[in-house]
Amino acid sequence: MKLIDITKDNWLDVLFLTTNETITVKGSGEPYEAKGMPSLCEEFVASNALSIVESVYEKGWTIKALEHEGQLVGFTMYGREEDDEDGEDADDEPPEICRIMIDRRFQNKGLGTQALKLVIDELRADYRCAAIELSTDPENARGLHVYRKLGFKETGETDDDEIVLRLELGAPEPEKPADTGVYELADTEKARPLFEGWEALDTGVLSCLDKVMGKIYVTDLEAPKSAMAVCFDFLFVTGEPELKLLQNFPGKWKLAVPQNEAWAKLIEDNFPAYKRVRYAMRKDNAFDREKLEGFVRALPEGYELRKFDGELYDICKNDDEYEDCVAGFGSKAKFLELGRGWAVMKDGKLVGAASSYSRYGGGIDIEIGVNKDERNKGLGSAVAAKLILSCLDEGLYPAWDAACKLSVRLAEKLGYVFSHEYDAYVIE
Ligand SMILES: CC(C)(COP(=O)(O)OP(=O)(O)OC[C@H]1O[C@@H](n2cnc3c(N)ncnc32)[C@H](O)[C@@H]1OP(=O)(O)O)[C@@H](O)C(=O)NCCC(=O)NCCS
Repeated sequence: MKLIDITKDNWLDVLFLTTNETITVKGSGEPYEAKGMPSLCEEFVASNALSIVESVYEKGWTIKALEHEGQLVGFTMYGREEDDEDGEDADDEPPEICRIMIDRRFQNKGLGTQALKLVIDELRADYRCAAIELSTDPENARGLHVYRKLGFKETGETDDDEIVLRLELGAPEPEKPADTGVYELADTEKARPLFEGWEALDTGVLSCLDKVMGKIYVTDLEAPKSAMAVCFDFLFVTGEPELKLLQNFPGKWKLAVPQNEAWAKLIEDNFPAYKRVRYAMRKDNAFDREKLEGFVRALPEGYELRKFDGELYDICKNDDEYEDCVAGFGSKAKFLELGRGWAVMKDGKLVGAASSYSRYGGGIDIEIGVNKDERNKGLGSAVAAKLILSCLDEGLYPAWDAACKLSVRLAEKLGYVFSHEYDAYVIE
């Protein structure tokens, strides 16, 4: 038994499949009995002609002919009608077997049962549904027998004069993700040599290698020749350039840092990205605590510094300006465990913050922001100094990576030493 397409070669034969034994034809002459002629509405099923036309005007139905040992034996129509007439979201409804018929010559040979099993498999695969429904005339003893045999049960509902039956399939199996050729590397140590030698290794890479946050993706889990570290909005690509790493990893990229020229060229050739210079500060600064405490003390009157807590997490999360202070951690619980941050408050409102953009084994990477109308008052220096001091107290290194020269100036004022420029690619 096969479900086959209805085509220009077989449509007429499909139309002449019928469940009628005889019908009385009343033409211009004497009425006569015609054997095996279809009629628009047959005893328990619409004609195939009607169903085929219906499938043109009602969207969502699949029509198929039933072929057994090379012979056309029946017809079926199934699916889920789009735009449910009650205006309800049809996606929540189980799909239906709207029509099934075996031509009168082939009935009672087990073919209807076989065909129904195929249709059930099709619907289960196409809709990943937990149930399938159909309805039939309560007088249709044979149809009901077959449906019940296959596990359909009356729901107690009716549709016009027909009784509704449902086959429960159980929860669909979770869909297997397609193999994109890009895999998350659980044993991140396998990728560490690929990142080594990268000038002043970025904390974002360390976050992933140290398994604190972010993920490492590779195309070969055993012996990777290339790797990509994804830490929040930053991607770091290293080793042999491989386009599919950037194309197929589960996420979207905003800012990519290539380790070498070949990766940079691959990005330039394949993405609408523009180059932006970033500034790395050295990661072995010896800080002058007294100087930093001086910045904290210089916080102007009317402002106070407040340590990040759950409430400040929520405030930042819902504020476009400060979202990046906390969002990389993915959840409040994770931020409260691993994140660090200080806020500048004025009249109970957040006007500036220095926080962990990300966390790695040895420290944090600092994210800083001050409201536009509150700049140049020393708030940035005060809040950054407070964060740096609290990190040093805990033995965490407060790494600084600057997106612009202004950020470099502030870092230098706080005691950081400039290390090097590097190129990043940004996608809008
Ligand atoms: C309903 C239909 C699709 C079933 O296809 P089929 O190939 O005839 O069915 P099968 O041969 O696979 O199975 C028929 C079963 O019904 C049983 N049966 C036959 N006549 C019966 C009757 N009057 N009362 C109860 N059971 C009956 C058979 O014994 C057989 O049961 P079994 O498999 O347990 O031995 C087909 O008969 C048909 O086209 N009927 C007319 C149109 C129709 O009713 N379509 C469904 C509209 S909802």
